[in-house]
Amino acid sequence: MFSSSLGKKYLMALSGLVLIGFVFVHMAGNLQVLLGQAQINAYAHSLQSLPWFILWGSRLFLLAAVLIHAFTAYSLIVENRKARPNLNEIEATKRAGLASLRMGLTGSILLAFIVFHLLHFTIRTIYPEYAEMMTTVGSPDGTEIHDAFLMVISGFKHDVISVFYVVAMGMLCAHLSHGFSSVFQSLGLRSESWRAKIDLVAIGYAWIIFVGFSIVPLSVLAQKHGIYEFYDPSFFSQEVEEKSLSTNLLNNES
Ligand code: HEM
Repeated sequence: MFSSSLGKKYLMALSGLVLIGFVFVHMAGNLQVLLGQAQINAYAHSLQSLPWFILWGSRLFLLAAVLIHAFTAYSLIVENRKARPNLNEIEATKRAGLASLRMGLTGSILLAFIVFHLLHFTIRTIYPEYAEMMTTVGSPDGTEIHDAFLMVISGFKHDVISVFYVVAMGMLCAHLSHGFSSVFQSLGLRSESWRAKIDLVAIGYAWIIFVGFSIVPLSVLAQKHGIYEFYDPSFFSQEVEEKSLSTNLLNNES
């Protein structure tokens, strides 16, 4: 039982490490939306054009990391509950119980967010119109490619969806600010003397991820409500409105 718990802890920490790295790379990629349509479209197209075994290999690897992380977390929570029926026994146990409750809650919300997010921007079942958004802007050879920029802007023009994304990023921030330093603890790399420093780095990292992700939906909302302009408004009023009108997107404003 002890060794299996230890194995689960390692698996949870290693899969967490993969996800910590992924969110940074994904955030950095997303920030290219702020550099304009050509930049983000070219980037998204270069990812989509990777050899199939690299593209699908990394997708499956990521999916495995999410599933392993969620499964080991759930299983360790159940084991800990069984091992410590009286959570109020000592203060430290109480604190650990609260932290694991918070991690379980934010982790479950993130899992729901990931499912929604994939249906929204990757599988595009929520708005199938997104799959039809094509352009030559950002194309390396002048042929039509998917218009990731238009999709993201159309997606975040819905206030409710943007707010949902920002709230989910808040959950990610809370999850990472504890999870990041837990990884070091689980792998036996967090000595008492390093604890405070690692905790500080964890909080800094979590906030960078929060701001880096949230800035995209917040910028679209800011432009929509006339607070700030981060892209050419003529593009917004002509190309986006035209294409969105034909797909009925902007008519369904939330
Ligand atoms: C505001 C925040 C976010 C934005 C704007 C965003 C944007 C996007 C976009 C546009 C795509 C589709 C790319 C394409 O097919 O062209 C995508 C895919 C994806 N996103 Fe996000 N994302 C955000 C947050 C997150 C977070 C927090 C996670 C995970 C915790 C995540 C995980 C994924 C995954 C797993 C994919 C699928 C990648 C693939 O197709 O292989 N995203 N995201």
